Amino acid sequence: MSPYTVTRTLPEDATGAALRADVLQGLTADPKSLPPKWFYDARGSDLFEEITRLPEYYPTRAEREILLTRAPDIAEATGARTLVELGSGSSEKTRHLLDALTAATGLRDYVAVDVSESALTGAAEALLAERPELRVHALIADFTRSVALPPTEGPRLVAFLGGTIGNLLPPERAAFLSSVRALLAPGDSLLLGTDLVKDEGVLVRAYDDASGVTAAFNKNVLTVVDRELGADFELSDFDHVALWDRENEWVEMRLRARRGLTVKVPELDLVVHFARGEDMRTEISAKFRREGVDAEVTAAGFAPSRWWTDTEGRFALSLATAV
Ligand code: SAH
Ligand code: TRP
Repeated sequence: MSPYTVTRTLPEDATGAALRADVLQGLTADPKSLPPKWFYDARGSDLFEEITRLPEYYPTRAEREILLTRAPDIAEATGARTLVELGSGSSEKTRHLLDALTAATGLRDYVAVDVSESALTGAAEALLAERPELRVHALIADFTRSVALPPTEGPRLVAFLGGTIGNLLPPERAAFLSSVRALLAPGDSLLLGTDLVKDEGVLVRAYDDASGVTAAFNKNVLTVVDRELGADFELSDFDHVALWDRENEWVEMRLRARRGLTVKVPELDLVVHFARGEDMRTEISAKFRREGVDAEVTAAGFAPSRWWTDTEGRFALSLATAV
């Protein structure tokens, strides 16, 4: 098994500094919020994997179905010799793409980009055990900031799966898509996984499952802030809430204070008050329509080329070419 390379593009304390800035901003804003990338410490990454196996959480199964049937089309259409995946997590579904690309173009390079070091190393080790020929470049980086790709062969295919693009607000999505375009040469490709607008009950259940795994995942962000910044959030003081915002067409995840309380964040010299019933926003998960996806990728300098959904029409994978 060849060793994989791990590159940390964040300076050693970048995570700490960024966490402090984000938490300070979020907890002093009205309404309060906490930014989503802090969900994914080692426990958060494990809880997310558990979410992907919940009966209520259909996106992973729907996207896997599309990848299974369309990976050969994707390989043929892109001719990619390097696969770059943003927010790669466990790289579980990616195997279908790697298989098809290896067969079609002899692809050798896979660049996995994630903030979660534990997810990246776990994925890299599992992939290399199965595919000793693959060169795995694990990049610990924040995909909302600048990402420096290793100098591998083109054409490149950037995959952004799991509906993770929906966790960015619309202006953040525009900036993100333009930064992805800037990484690519004309003729390179973008493969985007987007969850689709559908029945409200189905959507809310996917983010508020009966066994409480999503609630534990949402509350894990409090554990991160307690550990990293010495805060004294008690998880039992908050309820997990998932709401469908019809206007914005996104599911909003919140933590709701069960009583009036005060939280200390010593590392920030901060004391925060929560009223009973006060909500703090932790995550949005936007749901899409084809026209919207086409318009957003076009605005960022891509030409939309293919659109596939699962047989139940719940989730879409789309392909676009850098122009
Ligand atoms: N692609 C996988 C995982 C999706 S969960 C799937 O489809 O199942 C979202 C992933 O993005 C997690 O692995 C998380 O660690 C990562 N992530 C979230 N915000 C990030 C950011 N700003 N930069 C890099 N990775 C991020
Ligand atoms: N990208 C995933 C999604 O939007 C992330 C996710 C799933 C998530 N369940 C969650 C984020 C619960 C916060 C809370 O579907």
